[in-house]
Amino acid sequence: MFSKETYIQRRALLKKTIGSGVVLFLGNDDMGLNYADNAFRYRQDSTFLYYFGLSFAGLNAIIDIDEDKEIIFGDELSIDAIVWMGTQPTLKEKSERVGITLNQPAAGITEYLHKAAQKGQSIHYLPPYRPEHKIKLLEWLGIPFAHQEGSLPFIKAVVAQRNYKSDEEIVEIEKACNITADMHIAAMKAVAPGMYEYEVAAILEGVAFAAGGDLSFPTIATINGQTLHNHYHGNLVKPGDLFLIDAGAETPMGYAGDMSSTIPADKKFTARQREIYEIQNRMHLESVKALRPGITFMEVYDLSARIMVEGLKQVGLMKGNAEDAVREGAHAMFYPHGLGHMMGLDVHDMENLGEVWVGYDGQPKSTQFGRKSLRLGRTLEPGFVLTIEPGIYFIPELMDKWRAEKKFMDFINYDMAETYKDFGGIRNEEDYLITADGSRRLGKQIPLTPDEVEALR
Ligand code: GLY
Ligand code: MN
Repeated sequence: MFSKETYIQRRALLKKTIGSGVVLFLGNDDMGLNYADNAFRYRQDSTFLYYFGLSFAGLNAIIDIDEDKEIIFGDELSIDAIVWMGTQPTLKEKSERVGITLNQPAAGITEYLHKAAQKGQSIHYLPPYRPEHKIKLLEWLGIPFAHQEGSLPFIKAVVAQRNYKSDEEIVEIEKACNITADMHIAAMKAVAPGMYEYEVAAILEGVAFAAGGDLSFPTIATINGQTLHNHYHGNLVKPGDLFLIDAGAETPMGYAGDMSSTIPADKKFTARQREIYEIQNRMHLESVKALRPGITFMEVYDLSARIMVEGLKQVGLMKGNAEDAVREGAHAMFYPHGLGHMMGLDVHDMENLGEVWVGYDGQPKSTQFGRKSLRLGRTLEPGFVLTIEPGIYFIPELMDKWRAEKKFMDFINYDMAETYKDFGGIRNEEDYLITADGSRRLGKQIPLTPDEVEALR
């Protein structure tokens, strides 16, 4: 946890930005996996963590700007809970650590909010993403599920703070990135034909746990890298496969790392793998070089896509003018996702608040296939932490569909693409801080160029 002053200052700025009303923070509760006492890993809501620092189930909080009160609602542990789960500091002690001096029992929030509503105070809340949030909003504020859209002043105020990482947050994120790099290096060394994907996943996840952390999202460790978010780990690794890892650590304070790497199952890439890998590598390195305040991330994405088209033209997979291909969206058959996303207390930072606010500063997102998956398009500013993760994929179903639709015949050589249907996918990912005059990689380097990857194997 940071010092109490950090939380006090964050709340003070939030109050100033929102100006009036009651700001409601929905904490996360325990959630049963297959029965109530056998719960999923507990994870506090990231906005609650940001303003109140406490990672315990059963808490909710309000900031009553009009009455100048900050209250954490929760119950002290019963003797039964202490007998089974062990002792803990009291709620009062926990609250004082984050500069909160007012507590009320958990049930008190209903009356508090009813009274505030009766007095005509506006009640600000964030869009719910868990069933328990939705039930609370229905019970406490009477808002039907279909109308729980959240309050825009609250969303915008949170984004305006959390998008700019402080020095102490960067230290935490860098810890997560260093553990994440160790996860990748351990797995990259281990992959070999004859292993199951789950054995590789276990090695890299073990590194995160051994460092006292957890995972920032479900691990991708697969020979089917062409499936972008592939969480199946049951395949046997064969000679000639490409193995794609996308995995990250979360520190005990909740900050995320997120990296990807792609390695040959054998000690060396085949000539065909290396040729495509080198294109992907250029996309990555040139994108990193372009990072600086003032450039839009959309421009960096376009640059990465153009580099891919130029590279695939040399291989014979694409043709025509690269700028036209990217503008029209032809590149997305091989690169159907974005270049990266904000990262912080969430691996996709604040995705629950809406990408339009976090990544586009309120501007609408593109609806073009591929480009619509770019989570971040806005002008970069110092303090942003983001990922760089271009990729090249051969997705048989997508190729078949586009070919049947005769899409982008001027840009795609479908006959040649047909011969890559067994290729898989390549993605590499690193995490960067935007600085006053450029960018800085967060965490130690993982092997990135084909030579670096082969040297590690
Ligand atoms: N690392 C998973 C993702 O960025 O979507
Ligand atoms: Mn990512």
